[in-house]
Amino acid sequence: MTDPLQKCFSEAKINGLTLRNRLIKAATFEGKCPQGIPSEAFTTFHERIGQSGIGMTTIAYCAAEPDGRIHEDMMYMHEGIRPELERFIRTLHATGAKVSGQLGHAGGFTKNRQFQGKRPLGPSKGINALGLTYGLPRIAAMTKEQIRERVAIMAQAATFMKSIGFDAVEIHFGHGYGISQFISPKTNKRTDEYGGSLENRMRFGLEVLAAVREAVGDDYPLFGKISMTDGVAGGVTYEDSVEIAAMLEAGGLDVIICSGGTSSMNPMLLFRGDSLVPGLVKHEKSLLMKIGIKLSAPVLFKNYPYEETYFLEPAQRIRDRVQCGVCYIGGVCTNDSIRRVMSAGFDFIQLGRALIFDPDFPKQAHAHPDYRNGCSHCNQCATLIEAPGGIYCVERPNNFA
Ligand SMILES: Cc1cc2nc3c(=O)[nH]c(=O)nc-3n(C[C@H](O)[C@H](O)[C@H](O)COP(=O)(O)O)c2cc1C
Ligand code: SF4
Repeated sequence: MTDPLQKCFSEAKINGLTLRNRLIKAATFEGKCPQGIPSEAFTTFHERIGQSGIGMTTIAYCAAEPDGRIHEDMMYMHEGIRPELERFIRTLHATGAKVSGQLGHAGGFTKNRQFQGKRPLGPSKGINALGLTYGLPRIAAMTKEQIRERVAIMAQAATFMKSIGFDAVEIHFGHGYGISQFISPKTNKRTDEYGGSLENRMRFGLEVLAAVREAVGDDYPLFGKISMTDGVAGGVTYEDSVEIAAMLEAGGLDVIICSGGTSSMNPMLLFRGDSLVPGLVKHEKSLLMKIGIKLSAPVLFKNYPYEETYFLEPAQRIRDRVQCGVCYIGGVCTNDSIRRVMSAGFDFIQLGRALIFDPDFPKQAHAHPDYRNGCSHCNQCATLIEAPGGIYCVERPNNFA
């Protein structure tokens, strides 16, 4: 039987796009866009990943509008950064890697000090724990007019992204951000056609998908990242996620990326490994927030020890249900894991921390059949997104120098 590793390192096609292999750098907001402008360090980081032989890298966070940012040092898609982004994408293309952009909206989960609106907008009224000490404590429920505006804004952002050279767009349907707040019954308490049943809670996301698809055309690859579960009682369940995936496929998505957890309610479910709490407390700028993180830690930051391919079982149920492409994400650090994921029928693998630890992962894994990446899953890098200069691997700080 052919080694499934060969499948991973073979060319892959998705809706007109050809990748040199099936490894994709996951969206990992790097904190290298001060005031929303791509920096030299941001280019160096992704160029290094491109030179490693990755099939495609993903740029995060590409907010659809200024108030769609989680904080002010994130990019939002607008003409003002066209020259920088075009130059950035040209540099990445020169490495042979394709470039995707994660298109997202923070909704009611933001601490953006440059927030322009009256209140962050979510599906329903509520408390924005992240913004409590940033003057943004309350979430307002979107009116239908505001829903229509957000749908149009997401489509405009996708048009912009295609026009500057992104090879694909990855819509963020998960992790507790804007669209996922509509999907989750925990945050969506609406009684109109956007709340209640799963069909209704999916309406906003499906309208965004339809508008983005119309904007970019049928022959442009659209990826979508979902949370297979919120990981909290009363939230989205693994069973729901199989239906969610089927609806997104019917809505025209080319590839579903199967993640889990939410940054707002259960972040450790998505990361696994050592707790984020010490690092978050260390790097948080607001003293009150530091105290809040510590106090909420036992409830919010649960203990999930790291294990390889920790989302494989629920992701497999989605793989078995849909015909479109499916991308595996979560704990791929060895060639054995790549073999397992490829054998299970997945089309792509996204790599997060393993590439931050070793940007040469693709080259090394290709050259050494028993490759094992040394990331310890200490999760320190994930707590550095707001630190000066952004993220790096604490065990290998010169990786991207
Ligand atoms: C530093 C860092 C930043 C991240 N930022 C994002 C992000 O902007 N969007 C997102 O969807 N996931 C983000 N993630 C989660 C990763 O995409 C991925 O789901 C997670 O790290 C698990 O994959 P891994 O085991 O390969 O690291 C981030 C992860 C890390 C480590
Ligand atoms: S800091 Fe380094 S070792 Fe720790 S999780 Fe991040 S990449 Fe892995």
